[in-house]
Amino acid sequence: MEFKHTVKRLLQLLADGRFHSGTELAEQVGLSRAAVWKKLQALLNLGLEIHAVPGKGYCLSKRLELIDRGQIESVLSKKASKGIGRWEIHDRLTSTNSYLLSGKGFPCGTVCLAETQTAGKGRLGRTWVSPLGGNIYLSVLWYFHSSQLIAGLSLAAGAAIMRALTQAGFTRLGLKWPNDILVDGRKLGGLLVEVAGESHGPCAVVIGVGLNLYIPDEWGKIIDQAWVDAERIMGAARPSRNRLIGLILNELLPLLSDYERAGLLPYLAEWRRWNCVFGKHVTIHQGETVFFEGIARDVTDQGLLIVEDGQGERKLIASGDVRVRFE
Ligand code: BTN
Repeated sequence: MEFKHTVKRLLQLLADGRFHSGTELAEQVGLSRAAVWKKLQALLNLGLEIHAVPGKGYCLSKRLELIDRGQIESVLSKKASKGIGRWEIHDRLTSTNSYLLSGKGFPCGTVCLAETQTAGKGRLGRTWVSPLGGNIYLSVLWYFHSSQLIAGLSLAAGAAIMRALTQAGFTRLGLKWPNDILVDGRKLGGLLVEVAGESHGPCAVVIGVGLNLYIPDEWGKIIDQAWVDAERIMGAARPSRNRLIGLILNELLPLLSDYERAGLLPYLAEWRRWNCVFGKHVTIHQGETVFFEGIARDVTDQGLLIVEDGQGERKLIASGDVRVRFE
């Protein structure tokens, strides 16, 4: 879904982070000042931080880099470009994952991006807080002949994203099984892999990536786990959003093209290196119930987590919420 032309134009004008007077904005978009104020209010409700200063006008608290397909494409490798079946770039969607799974018959390799999500989904039925203003909400659709290897795909994708984040300058990164992306134990992003199709036959897989580049304080208050964003880690040195999207696609598309042939194995050693829970005491939650606890030891070649309890009993964990206390 797209914003109305006038709203999009206001967004583009304000994106430079400078002050713009109400009169200037009204002239540029061809509306009254009162109407401009109403439109800005709507953007404010979607998460944009707009300051209004008497005598100066309106400005955003941070410069805004809107999604730009040309800029993303300028970063793409040949292999990644070849894998892209179609672009779906939107201002506002309920969820980029849901959009690709909505049965619209998108081709393999459809890449979907949105400036904001109104019903962003996290793992285990959680909400993914998705304000307007510069985060990454990205999903890629891929078709596979069989869903057998899909459990490992979610770990491989986590390792692929870590490559992209490292190239973009992020440090102190870690992965918490299966694919929570952490910086010093706080969540920077996550992946939601959803599958539609038969349990052993052909299937459509959507890999959704959410990365916090800038979360306004007010929105941060509704996130129910320790979180961080690129702005708080790197300040003005945070990476360009379009470049980071390109770097992620450079890793994800080759992974998807080769996955049915190569599986998780080429990514497993890397995933183990990034992991930040092995040797730590973890509790595995299903809902609010602790269903197993012990020391996280390793992952299997299929991507299941191995947890060992006090009696030395080892359990393979295929799903659930892994909680660990980072000191
Ligand atoms: C998690 O809980 O860690 C997974 C978060 C995944 C969020 C992304 S944002 C893009 C895509 N669309 C969604 O609705 N969710 C994923």
